[in-house]
Amino acid sequence: MTASDDLVWEPLDDVADLEVGDRREVSLASGKLVLVMRTEDGLHASCADCPHQDTPLAEGMLDGSVLTCPVHFWQWDVTTGEPLGVAELPLEIFQLRQEGGRWMIGTRP
Ligand code: FES
Repeated sequence: MTASDDLVWEPLDDVADLEVGDRREVSLASGKLVLVMRTEDGLHASCADCPHQDTPLAEGMLDGSVLTCPVHFWQWDVTTGEPLGVAELPLEIFQLRQEGGRWMIGTRP
């Protein structure tokens, strides 16, 4: 059994047009809201709101793989969710995969 066996996979639409540096809040069929970002490495997805005070992170900045919250400037590496600088909490990161050319996102139920 792997960690991805516990995940619920659902389609992640409207992200194919994202260019490097773009980020977009996406509402999943399950009702969960996620933030999808494109870096030089490809697509990444995280929780939509800042773990500090729930600010929408779509309003933040993405520079390389570093996402910065616009309110208190906490930062994370979006490839791992690791906090950087003064950030005190990690960012929840979701797994992505492609099935038949369609992006899928794995979240915990
Ligand atoms: S609300 Fe995002 S760092 Fe404080």
